[in-house]
Amino acid sequence: MCGIVGALLERGHVLRGMIEGLRVLEYRGYDSAGVAVATEDGLVVEKRAGRLEVLERALEESAFPDGRAGIGHTRWATHGPPTDANAHPHVAADGHVAVVHNGILENYLELREELAGAGVEFRSDTDTEVLAHLVSRELAAGGSLADALRRALARVRGYYAVAVLKDDGAPEVCCAREGPPLCVGLAREGTWIGSDVLAIVPHTREVVFLEDGDVAELSTRGVVVRGRDGAVVERAPQRVDWDAADAGKGTWAHHMLKEIHEQPDVLARTAFHRLDEARGDVRFDEAGWSDADLAGVERVQVVACGTALHAGHVLRYLVEGLARVPVDVDFASEFRYRAPVLAPGTLALAISQSGETADTLAALRLAKELGARAACICNVAGSTMVRESDAALMTQAGPEIGVASTKAFTAQVVAAYLLAVRLGRARGTLDEARGRELLRELRLLRPSLERLLSSESVARVRAVAARHKGVKGFLFLGRGVNFPIALEGALKLKEISYMHAEGYAAGEMKHGPIAMIEEWMSSVVITGAGAMAEKVRSNIEQIMARGGPVIAVGADEASLALADERIDVPASSEWLSPILNVIPLQLLSYEIARLRGCDIDKPRNLAKSVTVE
Ligand code: G6P
Repeated sequence: MCGIVGALLERGHVLRGMIEGLRVLEYRGYDSAGVAVATEDGLVVEKRAGRLEVLERALEESAFPDGRAGIGHTRWATHGPPTDANAHPHVAADGHVAVVHNGILENYLELREELAGAGVEFRSDTDTEVLAHLVSRELAAGGSLADALRRALARVRGYYAVAVLKDDGAPEVCCAREGPPLCVGLAREGTWIGSDVLAIVPHTREVVFLEDGDVAELSTRGVVVRGRDGAVVERAPQRVDWDAADAGKGTWAHHMLKEIHEQPDVLARTAFHRLDEARGDVRFDEAGWSDADLAGVERVQVVACGTALHAGHVLRYLVEGLARVPVDVDFASEFRYRAPVLAPGTLALAISQSGETADTLAALRLAKELGARAACICNVAGSTMVRESDAALMTQAGPEIGVASTKAFTAQVVAAYLLAVRLGRARGTLDEARGRELLRELRLLRPSLERLLSSESVARVRAVAARHKGVKGFLFLGRGVNFPIALEGALKLKEISYMHAEGYAAGEMKHGPIAMIEEWMSSVVITGAGAMAEKVRSNIEQIMARGGPVIAVGADEASLALADERIDVPASSEWLSPILNVIPLQLLSYEIARLRGCDIDKPRNLAKSVTVE
C-alpha cells in the first residue's frame, strides 16, 4: 500500500533518487510523503500530508540538505489520518533513528502503552512510531543497527516492510520484511531499497528480493541478509528486465490512457512467443505446466481480488468451455475465511497483477495447506506469489502504474485463454485442428485491438461519454463469457469517476435491476453471440421500453441497431470477445472521469497494491 525507498551510497546525494523513487511509487499510496537524510549535522526529516508535490515544495523552500544515506515513504493511511505528524519517517526520541513502514503492527497499542509508561512521548497516532522507539532502545542496549532492528521486530506482531536509518556516527541503513514486498538493488554507486523494483531500476537491474523474516544490512558495496535467528541467509540477486522508461507516461495525458493503448503489444508479448501452431498447442516453458503436471488437475480453484477476480471469472468460462475442467472462482478475502473444502486434484490458481495482494496470498497459502497444488497468473517476476507457487504463468504487461487496472487485466485474460488451450490439449478435450484454430483466432485479435484504439473509435467513445457523464448511474449488463466484462466495466467506472455503477448478468435483469431503469440511468449492454445474441437483444428492448437509454457495445449488428448509442467492436470468436469488449468500457470510464475532472491515475481512497487486509 505504502511505498518505501532508501539508499546508502558511497558518496554523493540520495535525495534526488529518493524523490524520483517516490514518484514512481506514488501509485501505491498517496496521501502523504516524507524523507529522512543522514547529514553531517545529524538526521533531517521533512514530511507532509498531501501529494508528493507538497513535499517537494517544502524541501525546496527549506533548502533541505542532502547526504549519502536516506529513507523515504509515500503513505496510504492505516493508523491515524493523513497529517504531517502521521506521515513517515518517524523518528525516535533520541533523534538518531528514523523508520518508514508499510503494513500493520498489530500489537502496537500494548507496546505504545509500555513505552509511554517508560516516559516516551509520542508525536503521532501511527503504529510505526512505536518501532522507531523500540529500535532506538535496543540500540542503546548495544550491537549494530541490524541487531537492534531484529530484536525490536521480535517484539512486534503484524505485517511489515520497514526501512531504518541511523545517523549517529557513520550512517547505517537496514530493512526488514514480514509480509509486504521489499527488495534491495545493488548499484555501482551504492545500495538501494525499494518496496517495488520500479524504484530501483533507474539505478540498477541487479535486485535481491527479500523473504519473510529477513533483516538486511546495507553497505555501500552490497547487502548482508540474515534470517529471524540472526544467521546469514543467501539471497542471490536476480536480473530484472523492466525498463525505467516503461514506468513513465511519455507524452500521454495519463498512465491509464497509455496503458489502455499498450494492450495490442501486451497481447503479443504475453502470448505470441508461446504459440505452437504446428502442434495446435501452447508452449509453457515454465515448470509445472507439462502434460504430466496437468494430467491430475480435476478442478481449478481461482482466488483473486478486484479486477484480477474478473479475469478469474472469464477464465472459468474459458477453461470449462474449452478444457472441460470445472472451475470455482472466489474472492480471496472470502475463500480464506470460509473453511473451504478442496477436492483432491485441485489446482489453486491465484490471479494477481502485483503478486503481493495480502488476501490473495493468504488464500493461496490456505489452498496449499489444504493439499492443492499452487499456481499463479502474475505480472511481477520475483513477487511473493510467484515464489510461493509451484507453477507460475507470467503475463508480460510491463509495469502498470494507473491504479485502475487495464492492460494487466487483458494480459490475465490472454493467459487464461492460453491455459484453457494448454489444459484442453493436455487432457485431450481439444484436438490438434481445434487447437490450431484457437491459436489463429488469437493472432487475429491484435489488428482488432488496434482498430478499437484508432483515433476514430476513441472519438466515438468520447462522444458517448460526453452525452452520459451527468446521469444518475450506470447499469452494465453482459452474458456468458462477457458477464465478467459487465462487472469489470462497472468497476472501472466506479474506481475512477466515482459514479454509481453496477455490473449484472443480463439474465438477472428482471430480478431486480430493472426497477432502477429510468431516463437518468444509462445501461451499457454488451451484445451477445450465437444463441445469446437474441436474449441480450430482448434485454435492450425491455430497458428501452421503460425509457432507459442504452449504449450497446459489441459486434451483434441487430443489437447495435436497436440501441440509442452504438459502440462497434470488431467480430471475433466468442471466447476472445471479452478482450475486445473491455476496451471501449475502459475508454468510456476514462473519458467520463476526465470530463468530470477526476484524478484518473490516483483515484481517491484506492491503492494499486493492497498488501494489508
Ligand atoms: C487493488 C487495485 C486493483 C486490483 C486489485 C488486485 O484493489 O486497485 O486494480 O485489481 O487490487 O490487485 P492484484 O495486484 O492482486 O491484481
